[in-house]
Amino acid sequence: MKNFVSVHDVENIDSLVQQALAFKNNPLSQVAVGKGKRIGCLFLNPSMRTRLSTQIAAQNLGMEAIVFNVGQEGWSLEFEEGAIMNGTTVEHVKDAAPIFGKYFDILAIRTFPALKNRTDDYSEQYINQVIRYAGIPVISLESATLHPLQSFTDIITIQEELRLHNIVSKPKIVLSWAPHVKALPQCVANSFSQWVNAWGKADFVIAHPEGYALDEQYTKGATITHNLEEALANADFVYVKNWSTYHDYGKIKCTDSSWMLTNEKMKMTNNARVMHCLPVRRNVELSDEILDGPNSIITQQAGNRVWAAQTVLSEILKSTNGK
Ligand code: CP
Repeated sequence: MKNFVSVHDVENIDSLVQQALAFKNNPLSQVAVGKGKRIGCLFLNPSMRTRLSTQIAAQNLGMEAIVFNVGQEGWSLEFEEGAIMNGTTVEHVKDAAPIFGKYFDILAIRTFPALKNRTDDYSEQYINQVIRYAGIPVISLESATLHPLQSFTDIITIQEELRLHNIVSKPKIVLSWAPHVKALPQCVANSFSQWVNAWGKADFVIAHPEGYALDEQYTKGATITHNLEEALANADFVYVKNWSTYHDYGKIKCTDSSWMLTNEKMKMTNNARVMHCLPVRRNVELSDEILDGPNSIITQQAGNRVWAAQTVLSEILKSTNGK
C-alpha cells in the first residue's frame, strides 16, 4: 500500500479487516514496525476521533505522531496551480508539501470540501496536490469527497458484529439519510457506499429523500429508495448519516423530521444495529432513544477507528520499510 485515499488502495478488504481485528486483540503486536518513523497529521478542518485514533494507532506501532492544525495555526495554504498569491493565502502547497516530505515518513491530511463548486470539490485538488508534491505516502483523514478510514472502520465493525452474533447469512445494510441543520459533505456516504459495494457481501440499500442522490460512481450496485420504511424492512444494520445535495450541489432541500430514526421505525428492522460516524446532532439527525438504546453500536464503531488506522499505517510502513 503506497497511499490510502480510497478503497482502490486496498487489495483485499477481508484480509485487512482480519489484521485490524488482530490489532484490536493485541494492540502492541507490531510495536517495532514504526520505530524511528514519524507521521505528520495535518488538519485543515476540525476533528476529534480521526485525530486521536490516528495518534494512538501510530504510537501502537512505535511511531511518533505530530499533529499540525494547519487551518488554525499554520500559514494559509494555496492549492491552485499558477495562482497569483496576492490574496489571503500565504504559502503554496508546492513549497510546503516537499518540506513535509523531509520532516515525515508518512503524511496524513484532512481537507473538507467547500461545497460551493462540485467540479472543484470532486477534483480532489487538495489531497492530490499533497500527494504530488510531498514525495512520501499520504493517508486521507477525510478529503473533499471520501472518508476511507471511517469506511474501513465501518466494515470492520460490521464484520465484528456478524462474528459476535454468529450471523453467516448476507446482511442487509441500509444507509439512511437523516436531517441536519447544516449543509454537510457527501464524503461519509460516498465512501461507505464505495466500500460496501467493493466488499460485495451485503444487500445494500440507500434511502434518501428526492433530490439527495449521490454520485453514481459510488452507489452503483445499491438499491436506492425514497421510502425509509421500505428500506428498513428486515435491515441488519442501519447507517444513519446526513449529506447535502450532490446534483444541485451543496444544498439543504429537506428538513423533514420523519427521516430521523426512532424506536418505532426500528420495529421494522431485524433488530438492526445502528451506526453513525459521529459527531451527531442529537434529536435532529438521530433520536436520544436510539443513541442511548441497546441497538446503537456507535461507541464500538468509533473505538474501531484505532484499528483501522493502525492497519493502514502498518501496511504502508511494511511496504516502504523494504525499499
Ligand atoms: N467520524 C469522524 O471523522 O470524526 P471526527 O470528525 O471527530 O474526526
